[in-house]
Amino acid sequence: MEVLSVASEIYPLIKTGGLADVAGALPGALGESGVTMRTLVPGYPAVTAKMSGGREVARFDDLFGVPARLIAGRVEGLDLIVLDAPSLYERPGNPYMGPEGWDWPDNWKRYAALSWVASELGLGLVEGYRPQVIHAHDWQAGLVPAYVKFGPSSNIKTVMTVHNMAFQGTFGAEIFAQLKLPAHAFSMEGVEYYGGVGYLKAGVECADVVTTVSPTYAAEIRTPEFGMGLEGLLNNRSTTVHGVLNGIDMNAWNPATDPALAQTYTAGTMQGRLVNKRAVQEAFGLEPLDGPLFAVVSRLTWQKGIDLLAANIELIVESGAQLAVLGSGDTELENAIRSAAKAHPGKVGLVTGYNEELSHLVQGGADVMMVPSRFEPCGLTQLYALRYGCVPLVSRVGGLNDTIIDANVAAIQAEVATGVQFAPPSETALADAIRRMLALYADVKSWKKMQRRGMKSDVSWETSANRYAQLYASLIGYSTDDSQDD
Ligand code: ADP
Ligand code: GLC
Repeated sequence: MEVLSVASEIYPLIKTGGLADVAGALPGALGESGVTMRTLVPGYPAVTAKMSGGREVARFDDLFGVPARLIAGRVEGLDLIVLDAPSLYERPGNPYMGPEGWDWPDNWKRYAALSWVASELGLGLVEGYRPQVIHAHDWQAGLVPAYVKFGPSSNIKTVMTVHNMAFQGTFGAEIFAQLKLPAHAFSMEGVEYYGGVGYLKAGVECADVVTTVSPTYAAEIRTPEFGMGLEGLLNNRSTTVHGVLNGIDMNAWNPATDPALAQTYTAGTMQGRLVNKRAVQEAFGLEPLDGPLFAVVSRLTWQKGIDLLAANIELIVESGAQLAVLGSGDTELENAIRSAAKAHPGKVGLVTGYNEELSHLVQGGADVMMVPSRFEPCGLTQLYALRYGCVPLVSRVGGLNDTIIDANVAAIQAEVATGVQFAPPSETALADAIRRMLALYADVKSWKKMQRRGMKSDVSWETSANRYAQLYASLIGYSTDDSQDD
């Protein structure tokens, strides 16, 4: 079965967050399932730089007003089709924003072009290649199901995966005329959204199947609090929103072989983590203390509850613990952490910017990984933490709810706890969770057990890759067994 995945980022070529990790890992994870997955990605500089060995498979003189071509090739184990359109994608920095931190004003066109090309591939644009299913990720690929629905009739099926409801790709109605869609697509059954154009809305409305990245988030987004305007549409869809939990790439994230670690280790040689702890302390300007080292690796945003963390830094420091924060994002939140680091030299450290290697080292050396999110569709940092024996402290939302077993009395007695959860996402609930974590840390023997349990939990793609394979198969009639609805 041939599936075309459409994603605006893909690890290891271009990454701003978890979407890239998922887009990069899923094709390999589907390996044994009979699904062959190619991925269509925009030709950002970091991507085209790797395509020198690729071959041109299509050319457009006028793709949304600009010349473009498609280059197919195999890079870093991934089968890619790259949309090489320099005037759309050959730009510095982040895929979505200019150097000043503003969204590119033509983002509507950049991702409409990507989605339109995907639908053309579905119609057989490239000789010898005809995907049966197109899997669209997030708003950047949200128009794919609309182009398929309103395009020439075909057998192509579409899956829309929502990785984050907070990013919907909404634009003014004036762009509609340039989208290459028929007039009736500007309707409730199409791309129209509160009088404008909604890319994610279009995807959710027009796709054959909608999925999101955890069972809890699948339920949450049916409510106004988490649905962010799309809850009505989701509730009206007669079919299920499937919650398929993300896995992680077990090779890229393996403490036994990770080249980014100062010392590799396994569940049996966890004392090696101490060498990494010292390396983390050094990298963040912290004293080489033996107390608990809390860490955060995250976008510094309201979603991630970084303000809740900032409000609890005093508590962490007063308890004799340390804090290492790796991340960047909202200036105000960055500044709050920076002032705390200034106020508590050697105890609180901040490294800003994006640093993949350091993110691995932190997982391998810190004692506690904090993910105090207000909402979290799945979350990958807590999964990496489990694999690395870094105990997760998470809010009880979305995928954090589905992946961590809270160390409550029953879970401790049953010896199944893998971390600490708190709810609601508030300063005081986080403070309680920090205190609970400190008490757990003080009990050395059971702490080690909890770390080992985390390292043994199944955070691989195996189950979820099969779930996607089943969904694709059910769409094209390979199997009608869709009885495992979440
Ligand atoms: P989201 O996609 O919402 O940001 P996830 O937890 O799904 O959240 O994924 C975040 C990914 O980005 C993880 O792979 C995490 O390690 C990585 N990450 C976040 N911030 C940084 C950073 N400053 N440096 C390196 N990696 C980061
Ligand atoms: C989004 C979500 C995150 C999820 C990731 C990959 O960025 O915020 O929770 O893990 O997508 O699905």
